[in-house]
Amino acid sequence: MNTFETIMSRKSVRKFTDEAISDSDLNAMLEAAMAGPSAANARPFEFLVVRDKEMLAQMAEKTSKYSGPLKNAALGIVVLANKNRMFPDAPGYAAVDTSIATENMILAAWSMGIGSVWLGVWPSQSNIDALTELLNLPADIEPQHLIAFGYPEDPMPNAREGRFEENRIHYEKW
Ligand SMILES: Cc1cc2nc3c(=O)[nH]c(=O)nc-3n(C[C@H](O)[C@H](O)[C@H](O)COP(=O)(O)O)c2cc1C
Repeated sequence: MNTFETIMSRKSVRKFTDEAISDSDLNAMLEAAMAGPSAANARPFEFLVVRDKEMLAQMAEKTSKYSGPLKNAALGIVVLANKNRMFPDAPGYAAVDTSIATENMILAAWSMGIGSVWLGVWPSQSNIDALTELLNLPADIEPQHLIAFGYPEDPMPNAREGRFEENRIHYEKW
């Protein structure tokens, strides 16, 4: 799958098989996460990998009601922003930087046959507080995104059509 095919065929996966994700695949996903651009090259991200089933279930229980896919995931990754590494002139960019890292991981995983779903954390303070407590995070580390990963129960879909909307594109002036 080339990059364009990876982007065009990716789809959120919420039901996973029991198959584990190897350390080498996990490392490739994390390499992709850290390869992306970031504002002022601040790279404010940190990653917390959770494989423990009980902890995954707790994370699902204690965050939003839409975090259920963690319960059957092979692993979960919490993408965190390190407040000490944020670009001081514009710390708000950290959420953009961690989002890029998240999507890079999702796409890298997809290219290796691994499905995932992005589970929103930030900017919901109750989600942030729940993960901070559960994962024992220090005050300068903010959880921003959660991803459930695993091998898809259903076959990987082909590239989908119908999302391209020409009327969303504007040239030169609105
Ligand atoms: C910021 C963000 C938060 C999301 N949160 C959730 C979530 O809590 N639970 C969930 O099942 N899917 C979540 N999703 C996945 C979206 O529902 C999904 O991307 C969207 O429906 C489009 O489907 P697709 O990913 O298959 O293209 C989230 C996606 C993003 C980008």
